Amino acid sequence: MNKKPEIIAIDGPAASGKSTLGRRLADALGYLFFDTGVMYRAVTWLALHRGLNLADEAAVTALAEQTAIDVRPPSRDDGRMYDIWVDDRDITWEIRKPEVDRNVSLVASYGGVRRALSAQQRRIGMRGRVVMVGRDIGTVVLPEADLKIYLDASAEERARRRYEEILSRGGEADYDQILAAVRRRDEIDSTRDVAPLRPAADAVIVNSDGMDATQVFQRALALCVQPEEKPNGVA
Ligand code: DC
Repeated sequence: MNKKPEIIAIDGPAASGKSTLGRRLADALGYLFFDTGVMYRAVTWLALHRGLNLADEAAVTALAEQTAIDVRPPSRDDGRMYDIWVDDRDITWEIRKPEVDRNVSLVASYGGVRRALSAQQRRIGMRGRVVMVGRDIGTVVLPEADLKIYLDASAEERARRRYEEILSRGGEADYDQILAAVRRRDEIDSTRDVAPLRPAADAVIVNSDGMDATQVFQRALALCVQPEEKPNGVA
């Protein structure tokens, strides 16, 4: 019988469905789900909240080094997957605001910020029984992960999903604006100098265009049971 992977890394571009997949996989396996994007978002929110100049790399880096970001089980039934606390304040929804969306890629491009946050992520990941989601988990944070999934989808498909998600929550959205923002973030995330977004050499690439969340989940679960799948092949 195959041994289930103890450390699972899921990377991929914005809005490719990584968090939804990570949460479902973690629940199915009884593992911890850890979405590392929330850490970059928390530092970005705190820097904005304190009125820091986000172009000041040294100041933002110092903030990342000093800040304890707490990820806890969800305390409310309002659609959240977890609580995010910083400085005794629940910022779970604050970190999803457009202001954070607009600035988080810049903050995540700073080498010192990445070093500080990656070290915390690595400590948590190395305990095992974890599904860790991000951009550089398989390449930098946990290169020893037993299973690496790179979840991809076209920019149009990802923008459409985000658009429908906002409408389903009763919000207003402009598809073209969302598509432009998705492309802008892809560009920044994949061209930055430190830990750019790219699949690890031994990652299984899953392209979710035309698949729904359940099909993606079943595909990933099958990889946990059949880990001998050819590395870096299109699954
Ligand atoms: O997954 P997300 O949209 O919440 O990520 C927010 C930002 O953080 C995004 O610009 C990419 C960045 N990020 C990163 O650089 N490395 C990670 N491991 C996770 C997120």
